[in-house]
Amino acid sequence: MEYIPLGRSDTRIPKIGFGAWQYRGGRGVLRRAHALGAAFVDTAEMYGTEPQVARDIAGLRGEYFIATKVSPQNLRRDTLLAHADASLRRLETDWIDLYQIHSPNPDIPIAETMAAMRALVDDGRVRHVGVSNFSVDDMRAAQDALGGVPLASNQMRYSLAARQIEDDVLPYCQEHAITVIAYSPLAKGDFSAAGLERLAEVAADVGKTPAQVLLNWVVGQPGVMAIPKTDRPERVDEAVAAVGWTLAPHHRAALEGA
Ligand SMILES: NC(=O)c1ccc[n+]([C@@H]2O[C@H](COP(=O)([O-])OP(=O)(O)OC[C@H]3O[C@@H](n4cnc5c(N)ncnc54)[C@H](OP(=O)(O)O)[C@@H]3O)[C@@H](O)[C@H]2O)c1
Repeated sequence: MEYIPLGRSDTRIPKIGFGAWQYRGGRGVLRRAHALGAAFVDTAEMYGTEPQVARDIAGLRGEYFIATKVSPQNLRRDTLLAHADASLRRLETDWIDLYQIHSPNPDIPIAETMAAMRALVDDGRVRHVGVSNFSVDDMRAAQDALGGVPLASNQMRYSLAARQIEDDVLPYCQEHAITVIAYSPLAKGDFSAAGLERLAEVAADVGKTPAQVLLNWVVGQPGVMAIPKTDRPERVDEAVAAVGWTLAPHHRAALEGA
C-alpha cells in the first residue's frame, strides 16, 4: 500500500480505503483491508452502517482509521454534538478519526457548525475535521470558521467518468493541502460503450483489471485517495493491488480521451 498525509497533518492514510454506503459487511472485507495495509473505512450516520463497521473491525480499533459524517440537517451546534456522540456509540469508540460534514447546508451558518467541530477536536472526540461535496467557496468559508483547526479533506465524486472537480475543487485542494477523498471511484454504469472498450484495452495492455486501472488513475492525482465500496473480500485484494505501479502517459491519455 502507498500512503499520503491527511491534509497538513502528520497522519498518514492509505491511498485506497473502503466505503461503507450500502455495505452489508460480515464477510471479512474490513479485516482483509487491515491485513493489506488499507485500514481506512468511510461511513456516515446517513448510511446506517456504523454498527456493522464497528462489528467488522472489533479488536482493531487502534489500528483503524474511521471516517464518518454528520448529515446536513444536523449542523446546528447542539444537534451536531449530540449526533457526534450517537456516531461514537454506534461505532463503539471514544474518537472519530475524521468527522465530515456530509454536504453543505446554506440554512445553517457554517460558523456555528465549525464552532461545534472545534469543540469536538478540543475534547478529543474528533481528530480531524473534513467536509464533503463542498465547493471552493464553501471550503473557504469552512476554513475561515475553523480558525486554527485545519480543514483536512473534502470528499468528492471523482472518477474517470466524473472529472468535474478538476475545474476548481481539485486544484484548490492541492494548493491548500486539503486531501481529496474520491467517492464512487469505480463509476459503475457511467461509461459510454467506447469508454468501456478503451478501459478494457488499457487494462489488457497493462495486465490489470478495469477496476484497478480506474483506481490507479484516480489516486495517481496528487493529494487524492479513493474509497471504493465492496462486500467481497477478493475485491479488497484487487483494489489494494491498484497501487504500487504507474499508468504510462500514453495510457492515461487514451483513457482521458475516451
Ligand atoms: N460523500 C458522499 O456524498 C458520497 C456519495 C457516494 C458514495 N460515497 C462514499 O464512497 C464509497 C464508494 O462509492 P460508491 O459505492 O458510490 O461507488 P464505487 O465504490 O465506485 O462502486 C461500488 C460498486 O462497485 C462494485 N465493485 C467493487 N469493487 C469492484 C471491482 N473490483 N470490480 C467490479 N465492481 C466492483 C461494488 O459491488 P460489490 O460490493 O459487490 O463488490 C459496488 O456495486 C461509498 O461506500 C461511500 O463511502 C460518498
